[in-house]
Amino acid sequence: MTILVTGARGNIGSRLVAALAEAGHPVRGSARDATTLRLPAGAEPAELDLTDPGPAAADALRGVDAVFLYPVIGSVDAFLEAAVAAGVRYLVLLSSPSAYEAGEFDRPIGLVHRAVERAVAGSGLKHTVLYPSWLATNAGRDWADQIRASRRVAMAFGDASVTPVHPDDIARVAADLLTRDTHRARMQILTGPRPLRLRDAVATIGDVLGVELPVDDLTRDEALERDQGRMPRPILETLLDVAAASVGQTAPVTNAVERVTGRPAQPFRSWVEAHRADFQPG
Ligand SMILES: NC(=O)c1ccc[n+]([C@@H]2O[C@H](COP(=O)([O-])OP(=O)(O)OC[C@H]3O[C@@H](n4cnc5c(N)ncnc54)[C@H](OP(=O)(O)O)[C@@H]3O)[C@@H](O)[C@H]2O)c1
Repeated sequence: MTILVTGARGNIGSRLVAALAEAGHPVRGSARDATTLRLPAGAEPAELDLTDPGPAAADALRGVDAVFLYPVIGSVDAFLEAAVAAGVRYLVLLSSPSAYEAGEFDRPIGLVHRAVERAVAGSGLKHTVLYPSWLATNAGRDWADQIRASRRVAMAFGDASVTPVHPDDIARVAADLLTRDTHRARMQILTGPRPLRLRDAVATIGDVLGVELPVDDLTRDEALERDQGRMPRPILETLLDVAAASVGQTAPVTNAVERVTGRPAQPFRSWVEAHRADFQPG
């Protein structure tokens, strides 16, 4: 039976397709535009918009018994109905701690994740929700351009504590859940091995690159002003408020990655070493 990985072009989805294909599992990876997919040998492509599945869903779901679902914005009800009709028996939903954390669950990011969680629960499908902590890939999203351009990072709340989790670890956990039922709990809270302040994460990148990367501290308003246009303002405001609330805290660590995969969660440094080129000019 085949596993359908939605978001197969995404950071986590692409790693999950690779992990499943490498282990020899029949896997199909979907994107809204299948021509954008670069799948490993053995993986089948499919075209699917989760919020507007139409007849394409039946093709994407043919012979599928387990699904990895991205927490997309919009209704996934029609997709889930098609999944039930196609005989899917289990689903892994990528979600976010924003769905339950104070200060987040009732703001835009939390509401999007909670809506998808509610839809999945309402579908009646057996499922596990993944709650990864701060993705190591955020470092590329938020800092790579600045580091390439100026070898400095300007940010607000550099003392905020996060526990960067490696996307490969999330993919490995998802691959395990999709292929055997040992750890199919209601949820798995996934973190990296240790908390770091945001400014320490920047220092780790500098250390790997062999350069000093000074951090220029911005106020909340300066960060809002600088980043407007990069993301919708309510999202930016939520992210800044979450960072502000984590200053002086110690972000939580779980052992879920090791418990599920049998391998310790990888440190942030491992992700940086593998993505060194993203931070180098040219
Ligand atoms: N940033 C964090 O610290 C953090 C923490 C916890 C959880 N998360 C969760 O992790 C997610 C990011 O994961 P990532 O980095 O792997 O994401 P990513 O690389 O941005 O990929 C997102 C994927 O979602 C797919 N997608 C979006 N809308 C879709 C739709 N309507 N139908 C089908 N597919 C759709 C895209 O597929 P196409 O190829 O069709 O574009 C893309 O492959 C966040 O959105 C959040 O939910 C993030």
